[in-house]
Amino acid sequence: MPAHIATAAPVTHTALLGLGVYRPRRIVPNAEIVDRIDSSDEWIRTRSGIAARRWAEPDETIVAMSTEAARAALAAAGLTADRIGAVVLATSSQMVLGPSAAAVVASELGMYDTAAFDVSAGCAGFCYALANAADLVRSGHAGHVLVIGVERLSDLLDPDDRSCAFIFADGAGAAVVGPSDSEGIGPVAWGSDGNQTAAIKQDKDFQQYFEEVATAEATGGSSVRPYIRMNGQAVFRWAVTFLEKACRDALARAGVEAADLDAFVPHQANSRITDALAKALGLPETVTIARDIADTGNTSAASIPMAMEQLIRSGAARPGDTALLLGFGAGLAYAGQVVRLPAIA
Ligand code: UT7
Repeated sequence: MPAHIATAAPVTHTALLGLGVYRPRRIVPNAEIVDRIDSSDEWIRTRSGIAARRWAEPDETIVAMSTEAARAALAAAGLTADRIGAVVLATSSQMVLGPSAAAVVASELGMYDTAAFDVSAGCAGFCYALANAADLVRSGHAGHVLVIGVERLSDLLDPDDRSCAFIFADGAGAAVVGPSDSEGIGPVAWGSDGNQTAAIKQDKDFQQYFEEVATAEATGGSSVRPYIRMNGQAVFRWAVTFLEKACRDALARAGVEAADLDAFVPHQANSRITDALAKALGLPETVTIARDIADTGNTSAASIPMAMEQLIRSGAARPGDTALLLGFGAGLAYAGQVVRLPAIA
């Protein structure tokens, strides 16, 4: 007789119990960027919705920003770090391949025996991590999970790149996921299109960069660090044609009608993409739409928790409201789910 293997004790429902963010100190208005990319404040505002963004200073590392956001999320949930069974951190701008940022954040928070790992899914990262976190709780593998979306994209920006220099920004958002009496995190709708990986990508890997540096040292030439590059038009086209289906899938899986939503919190990629999706979904005026991009820029994996926090802090949405989240970007990957908005600290 083979040994009996027990199954983890599952729970039925999960919810976002608390939300926190970290916004870097330095505000960078469009005026600071426009000269190098031959642009204007008006062009950037009109084409992207961005008036300013925040870029992290040296001490505002991926780990430091995540830890601050996580502390705020724990406070909002009324939980101490010892209640967390797993940390799942989404980022695409951690310059260290190991250890995972999640493991370092866990130890910064005083957790010494907690499952911790990073997720790389571009701007869809937070919603990917959230789906995994909800399943960890549902399956009984973790009592509570800390989900973090964090970026320092300013490290990957070519200041002369007209497509990227004004869009991407830095920050962190964290949420505590735990058991709940009723469902607070709907089934995820997710996918990716590997045929379009070239649409957003780092232009060289670190191996190529080191070879360039060695050649430059030998020849007296120069080398340039890897930068993020984007075919903005291709991503824009994909976003406004394909993602309506992703939103409708997430709504259908949750059994929620678009008109029953209180809030729509898409990845803050470009306000024109947000407008196009809201129109395609036929969202009534009663649905509050996240517009955090105006002062925050596009913070990739951090944008959705940061945008949720801004909506709640401003009073435009309240904890308990029903919201559709949709992350999308490099991959080209997307993930969306209907949630009940959490408390903030
Ligand atoms: O977060 C991950 C997902 N990312 C996204 O979803 C981003 C999706 N893409 C976008 O948001 C947009 O494509 C951008 C905001 C990046 C660019 O806006 P666009 O409307 O797609 O610009 P475009 O590339 O089609 O260029 C339109 C015009 C061109 O001039 P002409 O040929 O019409 O005379 C460009 O040369 O705008 C010009 N242009 C600029 N002008 C001033 C392009 N970039 C700039 C610039 N400043 N930075």
